[in-house]
Amino acid sequence: MSTFQIRDLELAYDDEGKGPAVVLLHGYPFNRSMWREQAAALRTSHRVIVPDLRNHGESSVVKASIPEMARDVAALMTALDVSEATICGLSMGGYVTLSFYRQFPERVKGLVLADTRASADTGEGKQARAKQAERALQEGMEGIANDMLPKLLRVNAKPEVIERVRQMILKTKPQGAAEALQAMATREDQSSFLPEINTPTLILVGREDAITPVKDSEVMQRAINGSRFEIIEEAGHVSNLDQPDRFNECLLGFLQSI
Ligand code: MLT
Repeated sequence: MSTFQIRDLELAYDDEGKGPAVVLLHGYPFNRSMWREQAAALRTSHRVIVPDLRNHGESSVVKASIPEMARDVAALMTALDVSEATICGLSMGGYVTLSFYRQFPERVKGLVLADTRASADTGEGKQARAKQAERALQEGMEGIANDMLPKLLRVNAKPEVIERVRQMILKTKPQGAAEALQAMATREDQSSFLPEINTPTLILVGREDAITPVKDSEVMQRAINGSRFEIIEEAGHVSNLDQPDRFNECLLGFLQSI
C-alpha cells in the first residue's frame, strides 16, 4: 500500500504492473480490496491503480461529493505520472467514473460502468440514505452490514464471499459511511450527459443485481453510443466478487479491444 496526500486528505492506493493504465474504483461501503482478483488478472498486461476512495478503507474521512472523489482520482493519476487510463467503477465507483469523464474526458481511454446507474437518487432514496447515515453514527456498521448483505450478492453466494463483504463493510468508519451517503444523495443526474460520451464503454451488470438492476444498465447502454453490454449470470450487485472469472474475462476482452 502507498499513500498520497492532497491537502487534508490522505489517499491509500495500490499501483502495480506495467502497461496501459487501468484505475479500479470500488463501491460503497467497500474498499480497494474488493478488486483483488481483477488486479491479479490485469497486472501482467496493465498498470493497475486501485485507490481507497475518500471515506473508505485506509483513506481519510473528510467531507465528500462525487465530483470531488473524481478529482481525487485525477490528482492521484497526475502524481503517478499517468496522463490517461481506462476508468472502471462499480456502483458508487461508477458514479465517480461518470463524473471523472465529465470533468476530464481527455484523460479517459475507456470507461467500464459496472452495476451502476446514471440517474440521481429519488426523494425516498435520499431519505433512506439520511436514515442509514444516522444509524451508522449511532450504532456503528454492524446493523448496516446485516441489512445490506442480502441485497449485495447473488442468492447462492459463497459463504467466504459473504464474509469478505461483511468485513469490508465493518472496516468502513461510521463517519466515513455518513459522508459517502451524503455524497451519493446529493449527486447529479448524469443521464442527459450519456449521449455525449464518445469513448469506448463497457457496461457490466450482474443478472441478480438488486440495487442497480439490469434495467438501469440497459438505459445507459441505449444512451451511450456504441457501448458494449454484458450481463453476468449468477451474479448480484457486487458482480466482480460473485463471478470474478467471468468479470475478468469481460474486462480483459474490452481492454484488449481498445
Ligand atoms: C454501492 O454499491 O456503491 C452502493 O450500493 C451504491 C448506492 O447505494 O447507490
